Amino acid sequence: MQKILLIGQVLSFDGTPFETGIDAARYERRGGVLIRDGKIAATGPAEAMRQDHPEADIVDHGDKLILAGFVDAHAHYPQTGIIASWGKRLIDWLNSYTFPEETRFFDPAYAAEISERYLDLTLAHGTTTVVSYCTIHPTSVEAFFTAAQARGQRVVAGKTCMDRDTAPDGLRDSAQSAYDDSKALLEKWHGVDRLSYAITPRFSPTSTPEQLNALGALWGEHPDCLMQTHLSEQVDEIAWVKSLYPQARDYLDTYEAHGLLRPGGLYGHAIHLEDREKDRLKEVDASLIHCPTSNTFIGSGLFDMGGLMAAGHRIGLATDTGGGSSFSMLRTMAAAYEIGQIRHNPIHPAQLLWLATAGSARALRMEDKIGNIAQGMEADLVVLDLESTPDIAQRAARANDIWEAVFPTIMMGDDRAIAATYIGGRQSQGPASVSTQ
Ligand code: GUN
Ligand code: ZN
Repeated sequence: MQKILLIGQVLSFDGTPFETGIDAARYERRGGVLIRDGKIAATGPAEAMRQDHPEADIVDHGDKLILAGFVDAHAHYPQTGIIASWGKRLIDWLNSYTFPEETRFFDPAYAAEISERYLDLTLAHGTTTVVSYCTIHPTSVEAFFTAAQARGQRVVAGKTCMDRDTAPDGLRDSAQSAYDDSKALLEKWHGVDRLSYAITPRFSPTSTPEQLNALGALWGEHPDCLMQTHLSEQVDEIAWVKSLYPQARDYLDTYEAHGLLRPGGLYGHAIHLEDREKDRLKEVDASLIHCPTSNTFIGSGLFDMGGLMAAGHRIGLATDTGGGSSFSMLRTMAAAYEIGQIRHNPIHPAQLLWLATAGSARALRMEDKIGNIAQGMEADLVVLDLESTPDIAQRAARANDIWEAVFPTIMMGDDRAIAATYIGGRQSQGPASVSTQ
């Protein structure tokens, strides 16, 4: 049985740095991560690990920083080709750019091409798990799961459901077909290898109450699946929801009334929440997904990380590609930091790194499998070069501790900072072999 011992700086978490600050972090200046059968078999100081495991192949990453791979808790892989489309706010942006592009995914060849492209791009940015919307077409789900399965990746995805006439021709299903297609895809893919299905009503404005009910029923029949949707992203959107669902108490109620509020619900954006919505989300222990580059790019607003974390919400971090303007979780952490600054709520680098790994994994209820470096976890890892470009290197050279050393890469880094990515213990990005013996 092949064992691999990775050596480098190693950072992991014992708890959440939003509760216990940097005491939640475990840092080895020169540490080792032993991988066997795709899982982390042991961790510890490098020299002790070498002595204890003389049979292991060694990959020495030198001064580079080994972290859990990034977990992107909300993305739209079909929007890869229209990322960075400018000048619109949410509803116009959907109608002008997103919906026309999504109509193309009836074609299995196109869906396969974009699935591969998206997974190549995100892996190059050190992202090992993504939670993605697909399009209304089952082919778009088949293509994505097929591509992820071939790479051995843990991903979550689902068929986007839209049956209202607010969605354009060519991009509508029905309440019944959404239920039937989602059920068939779920039964085929959920729990196969590292793949999970998420029931996916796009958002209340593009579904009828009948469709929301049907998907709520499906979730009730498969409560171990996740459910993903959008919530309170833009003020205009909330007014629209109120006009379409006049009896609803608030936006969240449009989901709640149809069986779409439970643990395992991933609510993207969640910016303009009313007190009742916050209370219910907390009571249910649902997950809020912060999409900072999207929230600034589309002009949606400023997520209240400080307030929601203090209230004990379960929060993940995400790119929201292509409303989000980047594939990179480094860039996403930087945007989360900047929004925190605007709200007078500085977010520590330990908190940013935790959000992009263990925090997102916890939002997906997968914290026992991914998002951290600990014995028994799946060996999805990223290796960061903390001196990847001259501008970053000159600042990192003055660092007094690991947080000052990594923060320039969080704020200024891109895919050049990703020295290697490991999926299930296999290196899938970066030089084939750094230094082995
Ligand atoms: N709300 C409904 N659909 C979408 C989408 O594709 N992107 C974003 N950012 N918000 C949405
Ligand atoms: Zn989204």
